[in-house]
Amino acid sequence: MRVLLLGTAAGGGFPQWNCACRLCTSDAPPRGQDCVAVSADDRSWYLLNASPDIRAQILSSTALRAGPGPREIPLRGVLLTDAELDHSMGLLMLREAGGLPVWAPDAVLHALSQHFPARSIIDGYGGWDWLPASSASLGGLRVSVLPVSDKQPKYARSSTEDGPWVVAYRIVDPVTGGVLVYAPCLKSWPEGFDQLVEGASLVLLDGTFYAPDEMSGATKAVGDGAQLAMGHLPIAGPHGSLTRITRHRANRPGTRWAYTHLNNTNPIVDPASPEHAAVLAGGAELPGDGTEFEL
Ligand code: MLT
Ligand code: MN
Ligand code: ZN
Repeated sequence: MRVLLLGTAAGGGFPQWNCACRLCTSDAPPRGQDCVAVSADDRSWYLLNASPDIRAQILSSTALRAGPGPREIPLRGVLLTDAELDHSMGLLMLREAGGLPVWAPDAVLHALSQHFPARSIIDGYGGWDWLPASSASLGGLRVSVLPVSDKQPKYARSSTEDGPWVVAYRIVDPVTGGVLVYAPCLKSWPEGFDQLVEGASLVLLDGTFYAPDEMSGATKAVGDGAQLAMGHLPIAGPHGSLTRITRHRANRPGTRWAYTHLNNTNPIVDPASPEHAAVLAGGAELPGDGTEFEL
């Protein structure tokens, strides 16, 4: 299985257009919004989430560009982890694709018709298939789904739909034995997550925030900022994800861990920062946009 990291930043990307903080005005390498492409055979590709940057992300990868026929594309479907705009807005940019299947949790399918009506907009350009995530099968890759949280997007906060609103995926290539776990939005270390990552070759994990109080520290925001931080498990601290990773790697060094969905406030976006060094020392990787893994 080939795994292409098309984008590795959280909503807004890095640098963020409306931010002039120290990091956003530094020389740290830019990152597009979180999006991954996977393929078992190099010919059929599936997107994990659809970022608003998808057009540039597709054009930057020879594997995803149109061809060889004049209107042929290698994209065969999209799998969504949640309904956040940074993971779903790209569907609108893909409207010319015509008839792509999209797999997502039921609450996400609901949000994309009732709160952000992407489904009816896109269906006006060609009938797409909107399918429950549990049934996903990605051209030879086997998918299983773990409910992760009930974090609703701000635009759908009035929804009373039952969750899960966020899921993680385990994608297995039965031919190579390669296993990818994709979990870019984790509110906590969810029940069942240790089993989901058991024997994984690579885990792509929520790296939104380094410190639990990061939003309030960077922007002096209160309330909303603190709430947003709570929607993503921080990396650092005794209850953060890095401690878990370090412990896990001591017992199972065969599993690689990499952070994605980095927020513009996260000091690890700067390769010269002590926080970046601490993550690497803890046994996790910080791949940039365009990184490819072969599992
Ligand atoms: C999130 O992951 O928390 C959201 O994407 C934030 C946002 O895009 O506003
Ligand atoms: Mn996000
Ligand atoms: Zn910034």
